Amino acid sequence: MLTKKMEKALNEQITLESYASFLYLAMSSWCEEEGLEGCAAFMLRQSDEEMDHMKRLYNYVIEMDGKAIVPGIKKPPSSYKNVVQMFKQVYEHEKKVTKSINELVALSSKEKDHSSFNFLQWYVEEQREEEALMRSIQDKIKLIGGGPQALYYIDKEIQQINLAEMKKEASEAEK
Ligand code: FEO
Repeated sequence: MLTKKMEKALNEQITLESYASFLYLAMSSWCEEEGLEGCAAFMLRQSDEEMDHMKRLYNYVIEMDGKAIVPGIKKPPSSYKNVVQMFKQVYEHEKKVTKSINELVALSSKEKDHSSFNFLQWYVEEQREEEALMRSIQDKIKLIGGGPQALYYIDKEIQQINLAEMKKEASEAEK
C-alpha cells in the first residue's frame, strides 16, 4: 500500500518519463529530417527505453494497489538548433530525471516505505548509467570538434554507441 504522497510522487515520475519518451521521439524525427540516421536510431532507442521506465512505474503503482495515472503530455519541440545543442538538452533532461529520482528515494525513506525504496534503486542505477552515457557523448562531440566533416563523424560515432547499447541490452535481457 502506498501513502497518498508516495502515490502522487510516483505518478509525477510517470509523467516525467513519458515526456522523456516523447521528447526523444521528437528528437529522433528531427534527426531523420537532418539526415542524421545514426542519431535518429539512437534517439528512437532512447525513446523506447523511457517508455519502459514509465511502464515499470505504472505497473509498480498498480501492484501496490495505487491508481496509476496516464498523463497528458506537453508537446516537445519539433526542431532543434543543431545536433550539439540537442545532445546538451538530452544531458540536461537526464540530470533533471536523476534529481527527481533522488527526491523520490528521499520521500520513500521519509514515509518509511521500504518497498518503494527498494523498487527505486533500479532507477538510481539506471540514471547513473544514463548520465555517464550522455556525458561520454558530450566528450566525443567535443573531441570531433566543428570541422566541415563534423556532422558526419558525430553521426557515425553515435551509430557505434547505439549498436553497443543494443548489444548491452540484449545481453542483459538474456540474464
Ligand atoms: Fe528514464 Fe532517462 O530517464
